Amino acid sequence: MNIKRLINEAKKARNRAYSPYSKYKVGAAVLTKGGNIYSGCNVENASFGITCCAERVAIFKAVSEGEKDIKAIAVVTGGKLTSVCGACRQVIAEFGKDVKIIMANVKGDKKVTTIAKLLPDAFKLKR
Ligand code: THU
Repeated sequence: MNIKRLINEAKKARNRAYSPYSKYKVGAAVLTKGGNIYSGCNVENASFGITCCAERVAIFKAVSEGEKDIKAIAVVTGGKLTSVCGACRQVIAEFGKDVKIIMANVKGDKKVTTIAKLLPDAFKLKR
């Protein structure tokens, strides 16, 4: 897996963030089983609560192109390294249990973890 390339795609997506309210830019890039990369940025709204995080935009792009098996996701922010929000953790867990999560910033710091560590015992629909 080319982590550098994934981070670079997330960085490029970050430059397209629509974040006039928080002024906080986030980029994400998803690597699928098929080897394709789908990127996303955060998209805010004047109705703040309907803002969508970069991670979910990237995942929804992959899934809507028919790629439901996610291997890794890189997330790039501007300042200090940050983690992935709870809503996005649940969405990531839906599409792969061993997803690698790479948190990076524009300075070049990075931290690698997995969705199993960030969201143990994720909700799955069982009936
Ligand atoms: N945001 C993300 O895109 N990903 C995260 O994991 C956390 C937060 C966005 C949402 C909002 O546009 C801005 O960052 C500030 O919360």
